[in-house]
Amino acid sequence: MTAIERDVVIIGAGPSGLTAANELTKAGLTVAVLEARDRVGGRTWTDHFDGHMIEIGGQWVSPDQDALLDTLAELGLETYSRYREGENVYIDKDGEKRLFTGDIFPVKPETEAELIRLIDELDVIVAEIDAEKPWAHPRAEEYDSITFKHWLEEATADQEARDNISLYIGAAMITKPDHAFSFLQALLMAASAGSFTHLVDADFILDKRVVGGMQGVSIALAERLGDDVHLGQPVRTLRWSEDGVVAITASGLEVHAKRAILAVPPVLFSRISYEPPLPRHQHQLHQHLSMGFVIKVHAVYETPFWREAGLSGTAFSPYELSHEAYDNTNHDDPFGTLVGFVSDRNADGVFELSAEERKARILESLSHYYGEQAKNPVFYYESDWGSEEWTRGAYAASFDMGGLSRYGADQRTPVGPISFSCSDFAGAGYQHVDGAIRVGRETAAAIAAELKG
Ligand code: FDA
Repeated sequence: MTAIERDVVIIGAGPSGLTAANELTKAGLTVAVLEARDRVGGRTWTDHFDGHMIEIGGQWVSPDQDALLDTLAELGLETYSRYREGENVYIDKDGEKRLFTGDIFPVKPETEAELIRLIDELDVIVAEIDAEKPWAHPRAEEYDSITFKHWLEEATADQEARDNISLYIGAAMITKPDHAFSFLQALLMAASAGSFTHLVDADFILDKRVVGGMQGVSIALAERLGDDVHLGQPVRTLRWSEDGVVAITASGLEVHAKRAILAVPPVLFSRISYEPPLPRHQHQLHQHLSMGFVIKVHAVYETPFWREAGLSGTAFSPYELSHEAYDNTNHDDPFGTLVGFVSDRNADGVFELSAEERKARILESLSHYYGEQAKNPVFYYESDWGSEEWTRGAYAASFDMGGLSRYGADQRTPVGPISFSCSDFAGAGYQHVDGAIRVGRETAAAIAAELKG
């Protein structure tokens, strides 16, 4: 058993925990970061297979994500634009493939008018929501008591318009079916990106990528901390009192500190034994959060063949197994890469199949967008975050019905010396790396202000 003493112990070396740790050291405090895995980065993970770089987790940066953009600049990491020249593909509910440019899918004129009306209506409501405190909206409880599906059904009788609006928030963002989260939760997701219009605009939301991969952010932040980052050290026990904490890992490493930051996905809070137990309110609150679920699929080809056909690679359909797909070709890479997403119930369904059949079904879906060539990648990879012990889903955690208005205001309230920091508790940048960094900074600033007086 080894025991060390620090001002602050940070549990979790994802972007939130590592940002907090760096900010605390800048404030002159000592830290130890305890990470369960043998790598840093958490839900950002850049790996290489057969010479192909694959972004297994978070990768895109949007222009409003100042905290992430500042961090990239500070770390000297460069970005590049997602390839987007050419026509996008939409597949309608009858399976008909249509090409389009701009944001609005090529649907029949009545449906297009409904889509535009719904986007405008949502923008107006979203503008009233403060992403930092959606529970403070005068109608928060009411909005949190109806599902997003219900709101859409009341808002329009046009099924294809509903399916498309649902896709932007449900399958594509919260990664839960639209009957499984509230209208308030949907509004938070849009408010965190600035507006509903931003979510609809793939060129905004999925604007840039990081040269070398998004995990590079965490790797560079961890390098600055040197030996203060301890890998392969899952924290099993957190002893706490008003005087401080002791974090004890599976292998017996003990960190004695004045404060602890729990920078793990909220669904993993209960993997740690607290001595004494956390208060009843946190026991309850934490049970109302659950992870969404999506499979991110990479298919690598000899060349980005779809570009020759004038396609941008951007493709959507609420009726396809892979509801959205993009050109994900790496910076300066002669190979072409497509990335597709299979969300919530579709993801459950394909995991019932053998690996071979699942691959065939997913590539079949991609071929509906890009043609037969999509069925023959030289490399294929499915990220399965649901099986990752230290994550358990993707992209992030959201509240169940009624949970956001009931518990949201307390999600980041410290318990004695324990603070909570993760992208799942962000306002701006909610569920994104940007949000993880923002919350990490804010958590560190509050602790530094207390400890440094
Ligand atoms: P994160 O989960 O990253 O880190 C938590 C760390 O805690 C992990 O390293 C974990 O191992 C560790 N841990 C857990 N329990 C522990 C214990 N008991 N003891 C010690 N350590 C423990 N975002 C974005 O901005 N753009 C994007 O394109 C995407 N796309 C995307 C795709 C996919 C497939 C995923 C899974 C996620 C994204 N995201 C994203 C989301 C983004 O990756 C995510 O919001 C951040 O990584 C969250 O950072 P945190 O630091 O909050 O948690």
